[in-house]
Amino acid sequence: MCGIVGYIGKKQAAPVLLEGLSKLEYRGYDSAGIAVRGNGGKIDVVKTKGRLQLLIDKTENGNALFGTSGIGHTRWATHGEPNETNAHPHVSEGGKIVLVHNGIIENYAEIKEKLLSHGYTFYSNTDTEVATKLIAYYYEKYGGALEAIERFILRVRGSYAIAVMFADLPDRIYAARKDSPMIIGAGEDSVYLASDVPAILKYTRNVYYIENLEIAVMETDGVRFYNVDRTEIEKMPVHITWDAEAAEKGGYEHFMMKEICEQPKVITDTVNYVLKDKKIDFTEIGLSDKLIRATKRITIVACGSAYHAGVVMQYVMEGLARIPVRVELASEFRYRKPILERGELVVVISQSGETADSLAALREAKRLGAKTLAVVNVLGSSIAREADFVFYTKAGPEIAVATTKAYTAQLIAGYLISLKFAVVKKTISEAASAAITDGILRLPAQVEALLSDRERIQKFAAKMTGTKDVFFIGRGIDYALSLEGSLKLKEISYIHSEAYAAGELKHGTISLVEEGTLVCGVITQETLAEKTVSNIVEVKSRGAFVVAVAAQNLLPKIEKIADFTITIPETAPQIAASLAVIPLQLLSYYVSANKGLDVDKPRNLAKSVTVE
Ligand code: M6R
Repeated sequence: MCGIVGYIGKKQAAPVLLEGLSKLEYRGYDSAGIAVRGNGGKIDVVKTKGRLQLLIDKTENGNALFGTSGIGHTRWATHGEPNETNAHPHVSEGGKIVLVHNGIIENYAEIKEKLLSHGYTFYSNTDTEVATKLIAYYYEKYGGALEAIERFILRVRGSYAIAVMFADLPDRIYAARKDSPMIIGAGEDSVYLASDVPAILKYTRNVYYIENLEIAVMETDGVRFYNVDRTEIEKMPVHITWDAEAAEKGGYEHFMMKEICEQPKVITDTVNYVLKDKKIDFTEIGLSDKLIRATKRITIVACGSAYHAGVVMQYVMEGLARIPVRVELASEFRYRKPILERGELVVVISQSGETADSLAALREAKRLGAKTLAVVNVLGSSIAREADFVFYTKAGPEIAVATTKAYTAQLIAGYLISLKFAVVKKTISEAASAAITDGILRLPAQVEALLSDRERIQKFAAKMTGTKDVFFIGRGIDYALSLEGSLKLKEISYIHSEAYAAGELKHGTISLVEEGTLVCGVITQETLAEKTVSNIVEVKSRGAFVVAVAAQNLLPKIEKIADFTITIPETAPQIAASLAVIPLQLLSYYVSANKGLDVDKPRNLAKSVTVE
């Protein structure tokens, strides 16, 4: 989704803004723009449609724009097509107010009507121009910048992170947010603003998190924060410890491949977070044994790949801890008036911790009185801050839009949470728990082995570039993993793909299978293997070309039938998804790279989906 940056200090602003925007490119965008207050006081705005590089070229790396304060934006179109007119920053009449915005102003149409009746005119299709002119209207009416922003906050519905410059207030940038991410960084004689930490990490590690409905006033010598009633509030910065290099490509051609290769370490780091002397310790998470014992049901809510990790967790939790688990898409949960029972724990899984639907689902669960556990990767994100308990996955910053290492970390979190519940509820023996724990500890080396043998998959992927349709099938956890394999492929290769529970295929979908249709069967669950193999035989006899991802010990059941097999090392069935996902990620990556597509920034997608 859109990326926002801001800078006020002593350096030339435009190069800083452009560099910040380049660090936010991963969020997804289709146009970009910056506004810089020139030395004469006038605010210059430059915008381009398309890649950020065009804006960099147009402004000669920012050197063509003079001035030491400014704001910038990469836009992911919601209202109005991606073009230069709709790109941000937006400007009020006479250039008095210049604004960038991430989010959606839901009642913009009604506000626009009101502003039209007051004589305002509009040049774009955006809700952001309406926001700009609403602030201009209030500024004109009430005379104070803080008051204008306060009135704006009270008047609009929806989500926003805004950064605003007022032409007649040369030494300040104002910012406010509700349900869209934005952080402020304090450097020496400089203050930075961004949608995400990597954009400012080069300059400062001291980061302020702005809460909903708070206003920040940035000046060269510092930043002040206000409540919506304009009372000043005190805030302490959080010191960011992770390395800026963690958000760089480090010699890899794409972030996605770098992140795929980081998975052994991600597994180790996530395991070490809670595993002390081979026992799972939830002290840091705060989830007590008492609360675990009192938990009668679990509902998992999430979106996209995080939802797929939730589907795996459902199988593992029900199998190990014998607690009924329901897993649901956050976008459905939030509106379907869910019925939550006493003793229900709602688990929200999210890499970014800012996904609009997941955040809304969390709030709905809290409103209904449920206890909430967030499984989140980004420290200090909204979901992490608002949940009762937080399990931080230790994937580090994930830049590629298609998640790999964060999904892997979510799987690990799911295993560890399930094991903890099983141990506390005494639904598995100590020996069984120890065997799974040992299996988890072996995963990093096994993933490493799979990664070192990726050339075969690369060669196979080269033959797949012309493929039009792919079906992923499996049963149980293999079905859960098929969902992720299918999403991974379609989101970065633009090949149509679907995932089906293998047993469901013959209830309709098999009519699509014809000579050459590619079917990928996932077979890691011994108890279900023969059933899935039968389903594979069914598609094979209708002409399908079959790729099998199978556990070593199950290979004899499938190798004679499949056209291409990928073997994964033996492990406990509950955690096999962590191995089988690796070839699926690699396959998607190589197909996309072979097709010459933008692997890290696939079309139409955003890393963090902060609007509905
Ligand atoms: O940040 P979140 O984990 O909440 O994001 C959820 C989905 O938007 C995300 O997993 C998405 O499906 C990815 N593009 C998948 O690769």
